[in-house]
Amino acid sequence: MKILGIESSCDETAAAVVEDGRNVLSSVVASQVEEHRLYGGVVPEIASRRHAEAIVPVVKQALDDAHLTLKDIDAIAVTYAPGLIGALLVGVNFAKGLSLSTGIPLIPTHHLRSHIASNYISNPELKPPFLCLVVSGGHSHIVMVEDYTDMKIIGKTRDDAAGEAFDKAARTMGMPYPGGIELDKEAEAGNQFAYKLPRPVVNGAPYDFSFSGLKTAVINLIHNTAQKGEELNKADVCASFRYAVVDCLTTNFLKAAEDYKINTLVIAGGVSANSLLRSVLDAECKKRGYKLFMPDKSLCGDNAAMVGSQGYFEYLSGNTAEADLNAFATKSIEQG
Ligand code: KG4
Ligand code: ZN
Repeated sequence: MKILGIESSCDETAAAVVEDGRNVLSSVVASQVEEHRLYGGVVPEIASRRHAEAIVPVVKQALDDAHLTLKDIDAIAVTYAPGLIGALLVGVNFAKGLSLSTGIPLIPTHHLRSHIASNYISNPELKPPFLCLVVSGGHSHIVMVEDYTDMKIIGKTRDDAAGEAFDKAARTMGMPYPGGIELDKEAEAGNQFAYKLPRPVVNGAPYDFSFSGLKTAVINLIHNTAQKGEELNKADVCASFRYAVVDCLTTNFLKAAEDYKINTLVIAGGVSANSLLRSVLDAECKKRGYKLFMPDKSLCGDNAAMVGSQGYFEYLSGNTAEADLNAFATKSIEQG
C-alpha cells in the first residue's frame, strides 16, 4: 500500500511516499528555518504563508522522486494535530482537496505518533509494545506504546519541552535558531562538570519533567557572569546544560522502564538527534540488557516519511477522515 504523507505543523513543508509503513520511496522537506532565524524563532504567520507557497511543488516533487503519479497512491496521510494552527490548516486543506478531487482516502495523523513511527522506518524489526521517550520542540513525553495506534502517556513535562529549553539556552548564548543542534555541537568541546546546574524533579510524579527552572538557572548563570565582567567558557556551559537536560530525561525514562518492566526502549522527536542523549542511553541500555531503538538522525526532525509510515498503521486500524476534517493546535497523543 502506497501512502502520500504530508506535513506542515511547524516550519517544514514536507511530502513523502511510503510503502507499507516502512519503505520510503521518496521524501522531500522544504525548510523555512533560514527565514525564521532572522526573528530568533518561528513566526506563525510567515510559516503559514510559506507552507501555502511550497505545498504544491513539494508534493509534486515527492511523486516525481518516487516515479509515481496520484493514480498509484492508495491513501493520503496528513498531520492534523498538534502544531501551529495556521500551518497545520495548509496541509489539512490541501490534503482534503486532493482527497475530494481524486477519491483517494484521507488519514488524519498525529504529529507525535508520526515522530514515533520514524523508528519503524529506521528499524524494520521494531514492533510495539515498547516505551518511547518523545522529545521535540513542543513536547517531552514518556509514552507506553502498547500498539501502533494505542498509546498511554506515563510522564510529561510540567512546563517547557526539552527542545524549547535547548533553544532558549542557546539563544541566550547568541546562537542562531534553532539552537539545540548548535548547542549540542558546541558542547562536544566542553567539560560537562564545569558548571553545576539543578536537576529539577516533580514531587510525587517520578516520570514527569520540569525544564523551566533549569533553563532559568543557565540564563541566570550567563547574565550574572556578564554583569560581573567575567568570562564564561561557552563550550563548558553548553556541555553542563546538555548534561543536565539529558540526565533528567534519561533518569526518568530508565526508571519508568524499570518500574513498568519493559525492556524495549525507543526515542523520537527532534531532540532524539542529541548526541549525548543517544550515547548515554546506548550505554545504559547495554548495561541493563535492554534493546534500544533510535531513528536515523535524518528522520529525527520534522519530515513526511514518518507521516506516511504512521498513516499506514492508522489506516489499518480504521482511522480515516472525511472532508470535514479539522486541524487542532493541541491534541493528546492518546487520542491520536
Ligand atoms: O521534532 P522537531 O523537529 O519539531 C517539533 O515537533 O517541535 O523538534 C525540534 C526541536 C528544536 O527545539 C531543536 O532545537 C531540537 O529539536 N533539536 C535538538 C537537536 N537537534 C534538534 N536538541 C538538542 N540536540 C540536538 N542535536
Ligand atoms: Zn516535530
